[in-house]
Amino acid sequence: MLQSRRILLIVSGGVAAYKCLDLVRRLRERGASVRVVMTAAATQFVTPMSFGAISGDRVFTDLFDRDDEHDIGHIRLSREADLIVVAPATADLLAKMANGLANDLASTVLLATDTPVLIAPAMNPKMWAHPATERNVATLRGDGISFIGPAAGEMAETGEAGTGRMAEPMEIVAAIEAHFGGAAKPLSGRKMVVTSGPTVEPIDPVRFLANRSSGKQGHAIAAAAAAAGADVTLVSGPVSLADPAGVNTVHVETARQMLEAVEAALPADVAVMAAAVADWRPATEVTAKMKKTPGSGPPALTLVENPDILATIGRHASLRPRLVVGFAAETNDLIANATGKLTRKGADWIVANDVSPSTGVMGGDANTVRIVRQNGVEDWPTLSKEDVAARLVAGIAEALSKADAS
Ligand SMILES: Cc1cc2nc3c(=O)[nH]c(=O)nc-3n(C[C@H](O)[C@H](O)[C@H](O)COP(=O)(O)O)c2cc1C
Repeated sequence: MLQSRRILLIVSGGVAAYKCLDLVRRLRERGASVRVVMTAAATQFVTPMSFGAISGDRVFTDLFDRDDEHDIGHIRLSREADLIVVAPATADLLAKMANGLANDLASTVLLATDTPVLIAPAMNPKMWAHPATERNVATLRGDGISFIGPAAGEMAETGEAGTGRMAEPMEIVAAIEAHFGGAAKPLSGRKMVVTSGPTVEPIDPVRFLANRSSGKQGHAIAAAAAAAGADVTLVSGPVSLADPAGVNTVHVETARQMLEAVEAALPADVAVMAAAVADWRPATEVTAKMKKTPGSGPPALTLVENPDILATIGRHASLRPRLVVGFAAETNDLIANATGKLTRKGADWIVANDVSPSTGVMGGDANTVRIVRQNGVEDWPTLSKEDVAARLVAGIAEALSKADAS
């Protein structure tokens, strides 16, 4: 959606400036070109060299630049952009903009333009709540300028919390996409990690313990989430399915590798843990192929417990996703087992399905699931795995936007 769009990013002097390196990267990944203007204060937080390296262009900091101003470079900068994004926007820069001041390159570009402007403010909550800032924001909105954020939460200063945190880079990307593309997709700007398939646990170099999971349901969820605009990492055990389009797929084999890859994908807004993770693995992994010795009988196979990925993510101290969805594949006592799992593992929803051989769910194309939450159980009809995925993703989008609104 951002292919060939020209973004002029104005970075002012707040701690959140470092997050805008990621913003530049995300915009470029989507095909936009990004030029960066930094205020003098911004260069105290991140060097122009870093923005130059990430944007692939020179960074502009000086109004009276002898190389640029022979053709009035500050006017050119704004003319050569389809959208100007100010992130982070300091209280100071908002005040200048609201009052038409133009005493450095950033404020002069902003005054000398009729290009649309999107602002992502970031400041201490007291600065944001100050009547002067409130007046400036109201003036800027009246001038037709758009805002994304700020959000509520912990600030960089210890012990400070409230509204003033800059919107996350992906939320800014979503706002930019919405500017260019009309309606944003329901999961635009959300980050999601999905697991899929079985894990395999080696016994020796040629033998392993595995299960019958095909990965069809997990892959369908990752694809549906990507189609809904989410930034998806799929962590998949060995399956014979193609990597879904538009999804960052990480291939793993064992439960321990899967956990490591899921943790590496955090922070995320949502985790959907659909993989059939082996509960146990052989206690020792033999590095040479075990030989059949005549007369000595079969070797003993001692198992040890694998890490519990759902519980680790559901109870993560610092990076627990806002919504954690687990799967319970059961052959008996479906709801009792799923409800137990919900509480024990700190999940928000459990997608429970009966995987008794007679159902044909394992490896099949259809699924009959029941969604177990703290406040009740929702029965879904038998659906294709794609339709289960689409319905689940729609529910996730709705839950996130409800949580945002409350
Ligand atoms: C460590 C530190 C962090 C700061 N963080 C912010 C901030 O997040 N938001 C803000 O409005 N001002 C912040 N300031 C104050 C601005 O840097 C200051 O008002 C500066 O004059 C802004 O200049 P500019 O608007 O030209 O970038 C911070 C200052 C310091 C020293």
